[in-house]
Amino acid sequence: MSMTHDPAAPRPPRAGARTLAVTSGKGGVGKTFVTANLAAALAARGQKVLVLDADLGLANLDVVLNLHPKLTLHDVFTEKATLEQAILPAPGGFSVLLAGSGMVEYSRLTPEVRDKLLHIIELVRPRFDWVLLDTGAGISDVVLFAVSLAQDVLVVATPEPTSLTDAYATIKVLATQQERRHLGLVVNQANRVGEGRLICGQLQQVLQRFVGSAPGQEFRLELFGEVRADPSVRQAVLKRQLMLEHYPGCDAAQAIRALASKLLG
Ligand SMILES: Nc1ncnc2c1ncn2[C@@H]1O[C@H](COP(=O)(O)OP(=O)(O)O)[C@@H](O)[C@H]1O
Ligand SMILES: [Mg+2]
Repeated sequence: MSMTHDPAAPRPPRAGARTLAVTSGKGGVGKTFVTANLAAALAARGQKVLVLDADLGLANLDVVLNLHPKLTLHDVFTEKATLEQAILPAPGGFSVLLAGSGMVEYSRLTPEVRDKLLHIIELVRPRFDWVLLDTGAGISDVVLFAVSLAQDVLVVATPEPTSLTDAYATIKVLATQQERRHLGLVVNQANRVGEGRLICGQLQQVLQRFVGSAPGQEFRLELFGEVRADPSVRQAVLKRQLMLEHYPGCDAAQAIRALASKLLG
């Protein structure tokens, strides 16, 4: 059978969005910052992007984006709203589905929460090119489940020893429990150029001893981005603005655009 595509033949239906979870070992390392700005960078490249606020207990994407939604994921879960009503346009040209403050009850993983999240991902995938999941930190059931919904994973870590220890623990769990053989690392708040590469190499070395030593099953941690500690990030958060829109020339914005380029191949 020929592998050449016949342009007259109907195109197969799109398999759906590429799903990418952004997670971390420790909290406060920049997951929401990376997710929101990466979404804007992908949108600027013509991609249709949805960010799902999957940090169910401690959602704060609404704060970063300065959105005050009337309807949220909570209302979709309880069938008080349809997806159409709860998916909102965000500054930066992408769409968001915010968790809202009523989600505390979903911070524990029950069969109901599992089913609802799975169902929502199935519903949104055909409508977007990318679905980014801004997850919680750590290795609780609910975080690991949210991550398990995504095809690809970016682990965000800062160079601080506490963040690296927790990143290591998270990566080890994802490699063993979810049998992931390839994970992306984003070193955020780097202090100098090249720090990301150094950290990624060190983590990879330690990990190799514990996971994926079988031939053909080697584990690979790939450096997806290095974002420098940049005062513009804090400024943008304080002003509740998207860094990529308001400080497009800063170091961190360039790093986020490079991350988007890498994802787009
Ligand atoms: N590259 C960076 N440079 C400077 N400050 C940063 C950077 N990334 C994140 N921050 C700061 O860290 C805070 C926490 O980031 P956030 O994305 O909310 O973390 P998480 O979602 O992982 O809990 C931000 O409000 C911002 O002030
Ligand atoms: Mg967050």
